Amino acid sequence: MRRHGAAPTTRTTTPRVIRLEHIHKHYGQGARRVTALQDLSLEVAPGEVYGIVGASGAGKSTLLRVINLLERPDQGEVQVDGQALTRLDAPGLRAARQRIAMIFQHFNLLSSRSVADNVAWPLRIAGWDSARIAPRVAQLLARVGLADQAHKYPAQLSGGQKQRVGIARALALEPRVLLCDEATSALDPETTRAILALLAELNEELGLTIVLITHEMEVVRQVCDRVAVLEGGRIVEQGPVSEVFLHPRSETARRFVLAAEHLDEQAQREDFAHVAGAIWRLSFLGDSTYAPLLGEVARRTQLDFGILNGRIGRIKRQPYGQLDIAVSAGDLPAARALLAERGVDVQELRA
Ligand SMILES: Nc1ncnc2c1ncn2[C@@H]1O[C@H](COP(=O)(O)OP(=O)(O)O)[C@@H](O)[C@H]1O
Ligand SMILES: [Mg+2]
Repeated sequence: MRRHGAAPTTRTTTPRVIRLEHIHKHYGQGARRVTALQDLSLEVAPGEVYGIVGASGAGKSTLLRVINLLERPDQGEVQVDGQALTRLDAPGLRAARQRIAMIFQHFNLLSSRSVADNVAWPLRIAGWDSARIAPRVAQLLARVGLADQAHKYPAQLSGGQKQRVGIARALALEPRVLLCDEATSALDPETTRAILALLAELNEELGLTIVLITHEMEVVRQVCDRVAVLEGGRIVEQGPVSEVFLHPRSETARRFVLAAEHLDEQAQREDFAHVAGAIWRLSFLGDSTYAPLLGEVARRTQLDFGILNGRIGRIKRQPYGQLDIAVSAGDLPAARALLAERGVDVQELRA
């Protein structure tokens, strides 16, 4: 497995649909002054699903609202689709915002309007002709699986259905970017999976760029390509999800991964104390996950090992596995070389 974490984040040759440069944002004055974002820079490529994970109060919502300039930064530049939003006048900003849609944790639907009227709302505001609105609304509702719910009211819908209305409304004006503020945090795990699957489909079908903020690494694992870990208004770690998920570097990222995988680090340390010899952490990603590698390595290098811990699953569609093994005998350097040759990352937890 290749490590990507140390790669530079600024590559001027690669197109970027979102670019935040040295953003600072605070709220309040004097003793009440709160720093929400500190010197934050971030780039998102077209068609990417970019996750931002952080605890409550880390600055996630502020960061998302800076992208469409609902919050104006104190310092720094916001570029979306090649336009510097921070330099636009009010009409320019209104036009630019039509290409940046948003969905919310609590859906933000108009409770006194039907599902169809909620979805029609942005089209009316944009001045669409009513003859064009009805077919567009029908098309949007069909796409999110609500073709038969058009005349209902939000109170008659489940949480998942409400978020589908929110998504249909967000897509109405064919945005380039969809910002999701804890969009699945009010939903149960099964509904969360269904909504994330819908977002992944829309990302692929429409080439829609998605920025998704969440306090759950599990959400990031299911849909994101890259992730930034936010703490105290700063990005403490960022990279491809596979990298951050399998090899978190910061304490904060580690905590989020452990929580997502239901791992108990204290219990692991106790397990390790019970075995002698070296302990290796083997990380498999993609094809190497399925290969019968361990048996072959054991035969060829006389490796004796016991399995201490393991986790397997998928990062987006890519299978991964991570095994902690206690190695008690055999040709260790040869085993490491053979594993590396087959694309397995070997980390020595204990020599
Ligand atoms: N409108 C506001 N006025 C004052 N403080 C705010 C406001 N919005 C957010 N904050 C503060 O800014 C920090 C970041 O908040 P927020 O961006 O909402 O974080 P998150 O979404 O990660 O929970 C927090 O300390 C929060 O209390
Ligand atoms: Mg928030």
